[in-house]
Amino acid sequence: MEKLPVISTGRLLLREIEEYDANDMFEYARLPMIGPSAGWQPHTSLSETRTVIKLFQGKKKYGQLGVFAIVWKENNKMVGTVELHTYVRNHRAELGYTVNPDYWGRGIALEASKHVIAWGFEKLWLKRIECTTFTNNKQSRRVCEKLGLTFEGTKRKGYLLYDGSIKDIDCYAIIDDDYYQRIYEKNWW
Ligand SMILES: CC(C)(COP(=O)(O)OP(=O)(O)OC[C@H]1O[C@@H](n2cnc3c(N)ncnc32)[C@H](O)[C@@H]1OP(=O)(O)O)[C@@H](O)C(=O)NCCC(=O)NCCS
Repeated sequence: MEKLPVISTGRLLLREIEEYDANDMFEYARLPMIGPSAGWQPHTSLSETRTVIKLFQGKKKYGQLGVFAIVWKENNKMVGTVELHTYVRNHRAELGYTVNPDYWGRGIALEASKHVIAWGFEKLWLKRIECTTFTNNKQSRRVCEKLGLTFEGTKRKGYLLYDGSIKDIDCYAIIDDDYYQRIYEKNWW
């Protein structure tokens, strides 16, 4: 799998995550309010973050797309990640995002996701992009709503977390027809 494209949005640069992002990533990945909301344990050391970045890069060997770093242009800081994971060529993928809490509430996840979804439909020819969030993750649900994804239902007890707890998950999705309809109506950007 080749390198991810560099996508420049109004305030952000989306580019392949690199080992040198480890410091910026560890800054938020160690916090208890981040990973558990997305299904992973907080990182306990910088070297763990480096390993996770290598794992992200290694997913490409298995036909996955890789992970974008979200760079805040104003200060050139890596402030989060966005990705299309669980990719099935010519068919589907799942949207995932994380943002450093110092940068919450600025619509960063929304801006990054809009561009990554557009890339998924227009360059990868996906038919369907899903986003699943824990039902109690209000912030992530808001991102899905603001993106205009369709709520397709709640999978009750749908997710086994690393600590053994079981959580309900809300499923949102957009299909290519919806996306192109919104482009036609000038209702995406
Ligand atoms: C979900 C997440 C990526 C949203 O990022 P973001 O760039 O702040 O997104 P937005 O700016 O669009 O804000 C989304 C919602 O978060 C809430 N929010 C914003 N700032 C907040 C803050 N400082 N504290 C608490 N909630 C806040 C608001 O409800 C907002 O919705 P609104 O615009 O209708 O008011 C971010 O909260 C995060 O990284 N959470 C932890 C990881 C995670 O849950 N990932 C998703 C897994 S499915």
